[in-house]
Amino acid sequence: LAKTRADIEFIELSIAQEEETPLYRQIFKRVRDAVISGQLRTGDRLPSSRTLAKELGVSRNTVSLAYEQLAVEGFIECRVGGGSWVAKIPGGIIDMFTNLGTDECDGSPGPRPRKTSNRASLITATPIEEKWPARRHNHPLAFRVGLPAMDLFPFDVWSMTVGKTARAENKALAVRTDTSGLRRLREAVASYLALSRGVICSSEQVLIVPGAQGGLDLTLRLLLDAGEKALIEDPSYLGIRGALVGAGAKAVPVPIDDEGFDIAKGEALAPDARLAVVTPSHQFPMAVTMSLKRRAMLLEWANRMGGWIVEDDYDSEFRYASRPLSPLMSLDTEGRVIYIGTFSKVIYPALRLGYLVVPEDMIDAFVALQRFSNASPPVFEQAVVASFIEQGHFARHISRMRQVYKSRGESLRSLLAERFGDLAPPAVPSAGMHMILPLQDCVCDQLVARCAAELGVDVRPLSMYSMREKRSPALALGYACVPESRMAASLDKLMQAIRAAVK
Ligand SMILES: Cc1ncc(COP(=O)(O)O)c(C=O)c1O
Repeated sequence: LAKTRADIEFIELSIAQEEETPLYRQIFKRVRDAVISGQLRTGDRLPSSRTLAKELGVSRNTVSLAYEQLAVEGFIECRVGGGSWVAKIPGGIIDMFTNLGTDECDGSPGPRPRKTSNRASLITATPIEEKWPARRHNHPLAFRVGLPAMDLFPFDVWSMTVGKTARAENKALAVRTDTSGLRRLREAVASYLALSRGVICSSEQVLIVPGAQGGLDLTLRLLLDAGEKALIEDPSYLGIRGALVGAGAKAVPVPIDDEGFDIAKGEALAPDARLAVVTPSHQFPMAVTMSLKRRAMLLEWANRMGGWIVEDDYDSEFRYASRPLSPLMSLDTEGRVIYIGTFSKVIYPALRLGYLVVPEDMIDAFVALQRFSNASPPVFEQAVVASFIEQGHFARHISRMRQVYKSRGESLRSLLAERFGDLAPPAVPSAGMHMILPLQDCVCDQLVARCAAELGVDVRPLSMYSMREKRSPALALGYACVPESRMAASLDKLMQAIRAAVK
């Protein structure tokens, strides 16, 4: 029996003009829910689009759109000139809709557990820098670890390069290029690495990736099977731990000492591991350099095990006392090293551009994984960086920043010696962009860092980076981003935070 218009009112078809959901979608949903709940049954007639539009105060098109969608999804049938009515829907389908969200066993409503991989809970539990309280401020705070001197970046030159690239190359860049990156940039990186790092590679071996993090993720997923062990430094960069979890691998932390990572300890801890992730040029966060002996031992291990060394060379551009040390990649004769570099420290971190250098026989595997995980950064930014390098701005900027960071590091070190007389001041930094300030044993570094964040200073507790190794409390202080004029005032805040934490 066909229902009348009066029956239709029973669906309470009111709509809210101010809701974000489009009006046609609201009408669609009300009618659909009425069909599913049984308020409307097979054969029930719907009002004509003209009538319903008038009643609801909406355009006829809106109602027609809703009816069309209901018809496409099979809830109603419409005939031109013959009106619209509720379609015959097999009982099972309505039951399926009705049972959504109820427990099949006892019929009680409520969501069922949502089964995910173990990886999902492990990755959620992995500490993440962005959740650190200092990051809640909407501008970067003094001493943020890893942040370059944004006050001195040549944004005017950069903007000119962006403009020129857009005018001259936009059309050419609109067409997808090589998965592994813009050829010009890969060539520029290969030449830069040969000159500055002694890494001799072809541009084919260079893959442009979304930052060092993107490179780590690709490398670990490609080289490790789920459940495999990987040796990592303890303490270590959180991004390395996270990428290992993402790859389904197990991190085996190896304690760092004055000579950096020790493969002999690693081998004793996990004789079956065949991959190690290291920061040999400037260990993160302990800021030590891996000795030549340890480098030789690590390479020997990789050859003997048929293993892999992932070399994260994140800030090697900044060495003040001597020339940068040769990376493991340049000492490797057997193709056992994957080298990772980044533009985050030498241009800026939000650019999200980095690069991998991979052994020749691994190019195809890397490029395939890069293609299928869409890990190719936008090509426009790649073209801008290529021009920035080709025109000499990049080399000029690095050499200027080397002077600036050296001087900022020395200033911070002497201010620390002056103000924190009771603590052993860190050594004058010979490399990098951060230093480690040891605290008294009775102080909790996490608490100090939290108090400091409230006062507007971003220092990282060393314990945040430690896994198994219990270390004395200490803070990591990034000095590259702090102009000398702001250093003393920021240190005053840090002293205040330490006092508050000791109380
Ligand atoms: C040791 C280390 N590796 C990698 C990275 C990540 O660099 P990117 O911004 O290129 O992902 C950082 C960033 O701070 C780092 O400290």
